[in-house]
Amino acid sequence: MSLLSALSIVCGLMLHVCFSSLHTHYCAPRKTVPYQIDDLKSFREDGIFNYSTMLIRDDLGVLLLGAREAIYALDVNNISEKKSAVYWRVTEEKQRECTYKGKHAEVECRNYIRTLHSVNDTTVYVCGTNAFSPTCDYMTFANGQLMLKGKQEEGKGKCPFDPFQRYSSLMVGNDLYSATSINFLGSEPVILRSSNLALRSEFKSSWLSEPNFVYMDFVDESTASVDGDDDKVYLFFSENAMEYDFYSKVAVSRVARVCKGDMGGQRTLQRKWTTFLKARLDCSFPEPSLPPIVQDVFLMKHADWGKSVFYAVFTPQSGLSQVSAVCAYSVSAIRDIFNEGKFKTPVAVETSYVKWVMHTGEVPVPRPGACINNVARNMGINRSLELPDKTLQFIRDRPLMDEAVRPLTGKPLLVESGALLTRIVVDSVLALDGQRHDVMFIGTENGYIQKAVNYDGEMLIIEEIQVYENPEPISILRLSSKKSQGQLYVGSEFGAIQMPVSNCSRYQSCVDCILSRDPYCAWDLSTTQCSSIYSLTPSSNTALQSLKEGNVSQCPLPPDRVAAVDVALVPGNNIKLPCQLHSNLAHVRWRFSDKALESNDKYYIYSGGLLILNASELDAGLYVCDSVEQINSRTYNRTVAVYHLQLHSEPEVVTPTPSITVTKYFESIHTLNTAATEPAPGTGDEDPLSPETQSTVGRIGRLEVAVALLALLSLSLIGVIIWFWSRGHWKCLKFAQSSKDSESRNPSADYMHIQNRSSEIHFLGPESRIPCTGNNNHTAVDFKGNGEHHFTPMANISSLDGLGYIHDESEI
Ligand SMILES: *[C@@H]1O[C@H](CO)[C@@H](O)[C@H](O)[C@H]1NC(C)=O
Ligand SMILES: *[C@@H]1O[C@H](CO)[C@@H](O)[C@H](O)[C@H]1NC(C)=O
Ligand SMILES: *[C@@H]1O[C@H](CO)[C@@H](O)[C@H](O)[C@H]1NC(C)=O
Ligand SMILES: *[C@@H]1O[C@H](CO)[C@@H](O)[C@H](O)[C@H]1NC(C)=O
Ligand SMILES: *[C@@H]1O[C@H](CO)[C@@H](O)[C@H](O)[C@H]1NC(C)=O
Repeated sequence: MSLLSALSIVCGLMLHVCFSSLHTHYCAPRKTVPYQIDDLKSFREDGIFNYSTMLIRDDLGVLLLGAREAIYALDVNNISEKKSAVYWRVTEEKQRECTYKGKHAEVECRNYIRTLHSVNDTTVYVCGTNAFSPTCDYMTFANGQLMLKGKQEEGKGKCPFDPFQRYSSLMVGNDLYSATSINFLGSEPVILRSSNLALRSEFKSSWLSEPNFVYMDFVDESTASVDGDDDKVYLFFSENAMEYDFYSKVAVSRVARVCKGDMGGQRTLQRKWTTFLKARLDCSFPEPSLPPIVQDVFLMKHADWGKSVFYAVFTPQSGLSQVSAVCAYSVSAIRDIFNEGKFKTPVAVETSYVKWVMHTGEVPVPRPGACINNVARNMGINRSLELPDKTLQFIRDRPLMDEAVRPLTGKPLLVESGALLTRIVVDSVLALDGQRHDVMFIGTENGYIQKAVNYDGEMLIIEEIQVYENPEPISILRLSSKKSQGQLYVGSEFGAIQMPVSNCSRYQSCVDCILSRDPYCAWDLSTTQCSSIYSLTPSSNTALQSLKEGNVSQCPLPPDRVAAVDVALVPGNNIKLPCQLHSNLAHVRWRFSDKALESNDKYYIYSGGLLILNASELDAGLYVCDSVEQINSRTYNRTVAVYHLQLHSEPEVVTPTPSITVTKYFESIHTLNTAATEPAPGTGDEDPLSPETQSTVGRIGRLEVAVALLALLSLSLIGVIIWFWSRGHWKCLKFAQSSKDSESRNPSADYMHIQNRSSEIHFLGPESRIPCTGNNNHTAVDFKGNGEHHFTPMANISSLDGLGYIHDESEI
């Protein structure tokens, strides 16, 4: 059986690889900025871990950072400057109690700070897990000092017991809204409002079924409301689905909301929410799959609340897939579903089985789940306490809406394969064209921040910046756009990082600056620098930006001609000509005496340059490396490197090259020259894959090792597939073959590991990464949950999703 499951997993993996390489255009970052310690301000303290709670207090000039048993006040402009710290350790007694209950002393029985909320100008509310005994306290920051007040309060329901459990909370006025588990075992979920009139959710699986709470935010919907509506708190989470006909657990993503003015019912739903409504969030992945899981959300607020947008990050439910997506939902679309949509209702089928279908009967008035609005007031109902039992009983039993919330654009804004996405924040930038652009900053599970923007449906990942040296998941992301220069604060288990929202000086020429299409950056004609739009003098009218088109025609001078670099040609040797492109989305084009070169048994073109195998006199001449980048429908060609290959057989032919300008692209050319002209001692001939060459060009060498490993892996996979096929699973082979085809089309090892993106393996021909088009014409299979649509039978799901279930065991 274990062999069978291993095989089915392999089969699933294979399908996944094929799908990714054949069917979908995933987005890829245009530029990769590797870890540079000097560019980042960081904070960590020895012996302290789990830096995952943050509160930005611009008014106090501090970032409050909660970690395990410690809270810091850091300078908001430079988080490396610690202004003050307090330590809140568990008592020995608490730790002992906790270990008695079977928890790990050093891991679970510690105090993880999970909550930091502003109460007023000087006071902050803090909660920690406190060795599985959640506790809250007040903390002040005055005269540069943090101080815990020591007024400890019960934290049950406000903060999780379990430090590993996701949860969410929000302070609205003096009321704390929290969504977490209220018991030690973590089995009783609750949505709680701690206030003069405390309210909570009903403990029923139709309300919450093993939920994972992710995010909460407040929308002031009473503002300018024509129907006298109330303000609302929105909550995002995932939970076990109840709407699918399915024999095992499937999780779905949800948005729920409650009204701020809710006071509970008089008899029915006493001290419970009368306005709790939830709906499924739809975000269809390009590949048929189980519903994706919401991981983080950010509310991009707009002065007119109806135009506010929730941005949400989704990852697959099955651990085998490495695809993530961002979907955006307008507040008004969610509101429409809650205010006007149909409800789902449970119907008993057979004896103990309940099926949720669309409710077609009468709906009582006032509408169940609605806030107290003009309709209710006109009926003389001013408070939820006065709602009729019929309305309350209806909503108590039917909190789920029939319809799912559709994303703004009908599909994901962004679909990516590779390291999973973990967190998101969004900034709104007023660009030079007078338009506002929403810029997403997305954290990944391997320590990168991606910066992405949508230009009229075209999705562009401007760059990805490695902020942690080791690939660790980003567990918190905060944005401060109050300062003229926006700052991002990032947290992980091992430390906090601060970085600016942009570093325009990374783009050194006008063409670079314009092609980056970064809304924060513009080419300043007066200083001839790529500068932040916030640092441009408002009076000056001399900055260039072309975000949607990436039009470089306004750039003052044609790009400098690239000087040719002389390279000696020794017949019989292999020669490497490096060429590093500015953009991951560009592909390389090599020309020799103005003839285009292709990979064949003579030339080997890879992402780092060109390899000429077994050079002869005929290979002397001019080699040009062009970068070709497609932006919208325009193609940009740029010459990146030029080499002049000269015969080196007679010593006098070797000419000194006084006129060479060695730009930064050619830094390694001298060592390469040596490697090419002096064959490794003893071997006589030079193998491009030999360890000697690898050490000169370490990075390329690593790529090739990865290639070899991959080749090995695919060989064994094919072996497995053939075995599998002989057992009748032709489908699997079909896909495996298409991937084999793509290998044989690109002889030698044309697929490699890209840069530092550890979990990403691409099949690359000459063009490596494909920019996303915005209309990924994917064959999306929508996951409907409208009652009438039944769950896709297991057999289909498994063969497509790569879950690799075996449907008929007798077959094998
Ligand atoms: C911005 O980028 C430049 C060029 O890579 C680098 O020298 C500089 O340190 C960076 N600055 C910040 C604040 O990241
Ligand atoms: C930030 O603070 C650290 C520690 O005090 C200091 O070494 C560093 O120079 C500061 N960085 C900046 C940019 O001010
Ligand atoms: C802030 O809130 C705390 C706790 O509720 C209270 O003790 C304190 O007096 C308040 N301070 C101000 C300045 O309002
Ligand atoms: C806290 O950090 C430590 C050290 O990396 C890690 O082992 C542990 O799992 C983390 N705990 C939580 C609750 O994330
Ligand atoms: C509801 O409020 C209105 C206006 O404030 C008041 O006239 C009416 O008597 C109230 N109704 C009840 C049942 O309290």
